Amino acid sequence: MNLEEFIKKSPKAELHLHIEGTLEPELMFSLAKRNNVEISFKNIDDVKKAYNFNNLDSFLKIYYEGAKVLINEKDFFDLTWAYALKCKEENIVHTEIFFDPQTHTDRGISFDIVINGIYKALQKAKNEFNLSFKIIMCFLRHLDEDSGFKVLNQALLHKDKIFGVGLDSSETGNPPNKFKRLFKKALENNFVTVAHAGEEGPPEYIWEALNHLSVKRIDHGVQCLKDHKLVEELSKTQIPLTVCPLSNIKLRVFNNLKDHNLKKMLDKKLMVMVNSDDPAYFGGYLNKNLIEIQIALNLSKEDVKILLVNSFKSSFLNEKKKIEWISKIS
Ligand code: HPA
Ligand code: ZN
Repeated sequence: MNLEEFIKKSPKAELHLHIEGTLEPELMFSLAKRNNVEISFKNIDDVKKAYNFNNLDSFLKIYYEGAKVLINEKDFFDLTWAYALKCKEENIVHTEIFFDPQTHTDRGISFDIVINGIYKALQKAKNEFNLSFKIIMCFLRHLDEDSGFKVLNQALLHKDKIFGVGLDSSETGNPPNKFKRLFKKALENNFVTVAHAGEEGPPEYIWEALNHLSVKRIDHGVQCLKDHKLVEELSKTQIPLTVCPLSNIKLRVFNNLKDHNLKKMLDKKLMVMVNSDDPAYFGGYLNKNLIEIQIALNLSKEDVKILLVNSFKSSFLNEKKKIEWISKIS
């Protein structure tokens, strides 16, 4: 079996996936029509042309624009169901997805509509094809902590559905420490915490997320190699880094896939795995991320196996489930 087939047929977990980032242009247009929402693109080609980003902020502008077509519970359901079907197609058997409530509540959409649509689609996928999942609510870091407290209070009413909290959006100038009090309250309420750090931002932001937000995982974290002490710490603690290769190229964190530092991180024995981040915007779902980075970095079958095993080891599944899935990767 060649490596591409091995990647496609192996069970996988995805740990860094923004559900709003799975909004394909076709669905964006059909929802715009269904909900009578005006969008600033004429047609699907126009949308695809706009997906030419210089950095994180230029992407976020378009991403928040696209999310405006999501209005009703059924829209969030349809969005999530489409991603669940992708999971089935790609042998993603477990997924831990992010959603950004403030992107919607700030437009007057109720928190309940958002979470119920997402949750019902994932439950259906669990019932129909045994997809397991966790939902992680992200705070938008370009907004203030008070806005975060408002959605955290809402999340407390949905503790049965929301497993953890994270931090995303515009990184530079919005360090993890800005949200120390908010994460403290989330931890007091038994939410697991994660945070985007070291995507564009400095290693210092990764330290802050570890030391002041008590995160169990770092999302992206690719800037860690600039700090030897941090690499030592991440290697010792095996705190996972959820790496997203195609995202990093689209947002120009690296010039091209051959320059990506994933292999260096593997060689330093860091707990890394591959994810798709915002696949509708960055040109590919999980298998494409794995296949393209394997080719670009000439990863061996052993390297790929480690990435797949790490996806389960780094997940929030229980130990028994982790062992069961890992035993199926060979
Ligand atoms: N980084 C920060 N915020 C985001 C991302 C990302 O990669 N995707 C969606 N929101
Ligand atoms: Zn992300």
